[in-house]
Amino acid sequence: MKTALITGASAGIGQATALELARRDIGVIATYRTHQAEGEETVDRIQAAGGRAVALPLDLGGQAGLGDFVASVAGALDATWGTSRLDFLVNNAGAGGGDMFADITEDRFDLLQQVLFKGPYFLTQRLLPVLVDGGAIVNVGSTSALPGQVTAGYSAYAAPKAALHAVTPYWAKELAGRRIRVNAVAPGTTRTRLGGDVLLSSPELVESLGQGVAFGRIGEPEEVARVIAFLLSDEAAWVTGQVVEVSGGQGL
Ligand SMILES: NC(=O)c1ccc[n+]([C@@H]2O[C@H](COP(=O)([O-])OP(=O)(O)OC[C@H]3O[C@@H](n4cnc5c(N)ncnc54)[C@H](OP(=O)(O)O)[C@@H]3O)[C@@H](O)[C@H]2O)c1
Repeated sequence: MKTALITGASAGIGQATALELARRDIGVIATYRTHQAEGEETVDRIQAAGGRAVALPLDLGGQAGLGDFVASVAGALDATWGTSRLDFLVNNAGAGGGDMFADITEDRFDLLQQVLFKGPYFLTQRLLPVLVDGGAIVNVGSTSALPGQVTAGYSAYAAPKAALHAVTPYWAKELAGRRIRVNAVAPGTTRTRLGGDVLLSSPELVESLGQGVAFGRIGEPEEVARVIAFLLSDEAAWVTGQVVEVSGGQGL
């Protein structure tokens, strides 16, 4: 059985990706930060459908715990799948948005840089010895980092997302010798609890955001998850170094 590590799989796009990969017979390591019960719910749903999964805690808000986390990934791979190798990595975990440039503090700016860019950058570096040759990585970026898709309050969120987009082809180039493909998705507005539940609790906001999308609605986490699963799969074997917008035509 192939294995995948998905960061931030206790909710939203990460949870939907975990379920989609498990449906494709891939073993899943699902991380959570504050919502342990939801992380374990991801595992329970996969196991109930006949798959195999493990939930692990991960906080990308600092660098200190990354070494211990990689050791716990190695332990979970061995204990659950009898392997030392990971086939797929999805750098999905994230938070933020809604910080106006005039008001944002340096601490908040640093946290967004850490969680959305430095954390996944060095987590991926530390996982390189565990990743199989021929494996694949997907980084979850954002349309907020694409040209012409500007929403007030997202400068400090868009900047590390742009950095994650930028490093994607560099990692792809450097890891091509090991046949590891690296791509990114840039989701448009997607119905998750990102940004404090507002997308789940305010139908009026969701309706108005949908008007800025060619298909007239915001996206669902499963719609992003299926593209991530495709980019990890052999069907995308000739695709590397790309940032794929997944937005239903946001801003068209
Ligand atoms: N929803 C959108 O409109 C949208 C659009 C473009 C891009 N994205 C990106 O998509 C990714 C997934 O977001 P989502 O919309 O699915 O949001 P979500 O439902 O809020 O899920 C976020 C996930 O990330 C985890 N997480 C948050 N902070 C973390 C930290 N410091 N360290 C480790 N894990 C952390 C959360 O864990 P706990 O809940 O357990 O704390 C949760 O599992 C993010 O990178 C986000 O920037 C989302």
